[in-house]
Amino acid sequence: MIIGCCFICLFAVLINKVSLDVTVEAVFGGSVVLPCSSDEHDLKLQDIDVFWRGKDNAVIYNLIKGADSLDSQDQRYKNRAQTFPDEYKKGNFSIKLVNLTHTDAGKFICYITPSDEQETVQLIIKESTEQENHGPETQFNWWQILLICVFTSSVLVFPIAYFIFMRKKRTQAPI
Ligand SMILES: *[C@@H]1O[C@H](CO)[C@@H](O)[C@H](O)[C@H]1NC(C)=O
Ligand SMILES: *[C@@H]1O[C@H](CO)[C@@H](O)[C@H](O)[C@H]1NC(C)=O
Repeated sequence: MIIGCCFICLFAVLINKVSLDVTVEAVFGGSVVLPCSSDEHDLKLQDIDVFWRGKDNAVIYNLIKGADSLDSQDQRYKNRAQTFPDEYKKGNFSIKLVNLTHTDAGKFICYITPSDEQETVQLIIKESTEQENHGPETQFNWWQILLICVFTSSVLVFPIAYFIFMRKKRTQAPI
């Protein structure tokens, strides 16, 4: 039982480590900033291309040599994606998506070349701010799971260890 519990803990930790995706939440009809930053310093914008892709690899935005390009933008993102050109020189290529619908929920990818960086953003669309209050209590995060596991296993381990210790003492006593 303890082993099972610890296995779950380990699994939860591993999942958390493996998926380095950023998850952002937004409200239906609202807007959201999808983050994407380059770790490179001394950026020369004229050398950089950034490709923002949405569902089914649909084009949201291309930044060619540091300049916005909407040439091949998918219809579903028309007039809904905004860039922050003032942030480019800081390596911040985040975009803002407005008028969110449920079909926007899912995975977004930002590719930066030639540094070959890639950032994945998971977008969650919530119904409205009203329903927000019902959810969070049922959502366990892995920290809570870990704490519960550590707590339950220590509660179980101590009496068992004590029991074994006492038994050893008792069997040793007559000698
Ligand atoms: C986004 O929503 C606003 C306000 O509801 C509306 O005026 C605008 O036309 C919408 N834009 C798009 C691209 O749907
Ligand atoms: C990037 O720019 C956006 C828009 O101004 C901002 O919301 C975001 O916090 C910035 N991110 C970083 C890492 O500076």
